[in-house]
Amino acid sequence: MTGSDKVRILAIESSCDETAAAVVVNGREVLSNVISTQIPIHTLYGGVVPEIASRKHIERVNQVVKEALKEANTTLDEIDAIGVTYGPGLVGALLVGLSAAKAIAWAKDIPLVGVHHIEGHICANYIEDIHLEPPFMCLVVSGGHTHLVNVADYGKYEILGRTRDDAAGEAFDKVARAIGLGYPGGPKVEVKAKEGNPHAIKFPVAKVDDGVYDFSFSGLKSAVLNYINGAQMKGETINEADIAASFQQAVIDALVGNAMKAIDEYGTTKFAIAGGVASNKTLSAALEKACQEKGVEFYHPAPILCTDNAAMIGAAAYYEYINGRRDGWDLNAIPNLVLGER
Ligand code: KG4
Ligand code: ZN
Repeated sequence: MTGSDKVRILAIESSCDETAAAVVVNGREVLSNVISTQIPIHTLYGGVVPEIASRKHIERVNQVVKEALKEANTTLDEIDAIGVTYGPGLVGALLVGLSAAKAIAWAKDIPLVGVHHIEGHICANYIEDIHLEPPFMCLVVSGGHTHLVNVADYGKYEILGRTRDDAAGEAFDKVARAIGLGYPGGPKVEVKAKEGNPHAIKFPVAKVDDGVYDFSFSGLKSAVLNYINGAQMKGETINEADIAASFQQAVIDALVGNAMKAIDEYGTTKFAIAGGVASNKTLSAALEKACQEKGVEFYHPAPILCTDNAAMIGAAAYYEYINGRRDGWDLNAIPNLVLGER
């Protein structure tokens, strides 16, 4: 123990294609946030290759932890607990970060705190705005998840809606590939969309009849692919910018529509966004405007806290830690871990 009343957590994240470590004090003060991305390697294959991801995490994890400690001007003796993502994610990738976390916690005889990856994304908002406190509603939009969550209290989550098929980021990545923009698609679609007309093509967004706040993006993705195939068969040239802008608008309409419905129903006064897709400025501006019209406070993390990072895991681990969560050496990676479940 450091002997101070401050809790200093070393956090590790390795659920997908970023190897990350951070040192966070009391869940809100980030002393370091080191991210080693594998994007250039996976770009060669057009998407994340799980086996390669695991191997690269093994190569990078020790160095990334060392860098995070050095940047934070901290030694392991000053660390009170280790926070680590244990799901959801790629099992091999998760196991690397989890094993590193267990080894350090065991060697230093300090607590191990397992964190849900989506809880981490949500908690990025606590770092961005040190005054934000629950309850609030959060839209988590990433490459693997699209969740509308009621954050009732620290560590207490109620899932109001989720995607039935593709995640929002996944749809961005697939559409980017179809119009030849490459991986990772989200940021590239956003740039391309700036040159296009968001109302040029009317792409349908499926409504989910039996789940008021659920999302579905696979129909939209198919509509874009059909549009491109149809144009090619007729020998027509396609306008990539109009496709990107119209697709992005359809995603935004679906996300904003469900979010506003939920805000009305639950009488929400604070609304936050999180996850990789939350760094999309057009989406964030649309949500901010819609929130302002309802007098709802809007929160969104900086892009570095939207993407996968370990500072957000450190924030989530802190609130789990002060709630008394301690994990044993039997903590396992759970690829399909559900938010709010242990
Ligand atoms: O949260 P994240 O870094 O990793 C996961 O937990 O999945 O999210 C990555 C996803 C990718 O699908 C990427 O294309 C998307 O976020 N993304 C974006 C933008 N930046 C990243 N999507 C739309 N617009 C962006 N600017
Ligand atoms: Zn993520």
